[in-house]
Amino acid sequence: MKTYICQICGDAYLGEDRPSECPFCGAQSHFIKGGAEARPIVNDKIELSEISQKNLEETLYLEMKANAIYLCMAGKADNYERKAMYKRLAKVELEHANVVCKLMGISLPPADTELCSDDDIENFQKTIELEEHATNLYAQFAKDATEQNIKIFFTALTRVEGDHTKLIKNYL
Ligand SMILES: [Fe+2]
Ligand SMILES: [Fe+2]
Repeated sequence: MKTYICQICGDAYLGEDRPSECPFCGAQSHFIKGGAEARPIVNDKIELSEISQKNLEETLYLEMKANAIYLCMAGKADNYERKAMYKRLAKVELEHANVVCKLMGISLPPADTELCSDDDIENFQKTIELEEHATNLYAQFAKDATEQNIKIFFTALTRVEGDHTKLIKNYL
């Protein structure tokens, strides 16, 4: 068994092989480094530009909201697989919120509650809407960023939220 470290969230994955995605933040395998060579971007303490500050604040709001909505959807899901999937999505979005807070040097805000439908199909459609919005927004935020670590963070997140859209489309 080895220790792998995610360059985005900084969490350690313990296993034989590098996972295809970070199990915590969903970053792709090329962001996951073997042990000592890892330099997670979340540990870079840098002065943020005004635009990155604003973009990270909006990201924090969206990620906290997604976390709360997915927990609602997990509670309404028709079967255990869907429930477990939404619980995992909620955790991944909370991990994104955690990384944002570390980059901004603030503590995680208290969790909100959000409403959702009783119907899985409606919840899948709402999920796709949220994830597509996040994907487009984060692609723009990656372009806006002048700081290397913020650019890398939003580039990784663009892909993660895009992967979430693909995941949900498989249910429709
Ligand atoms: Fe990660
Ligand atoms: Fe996210």
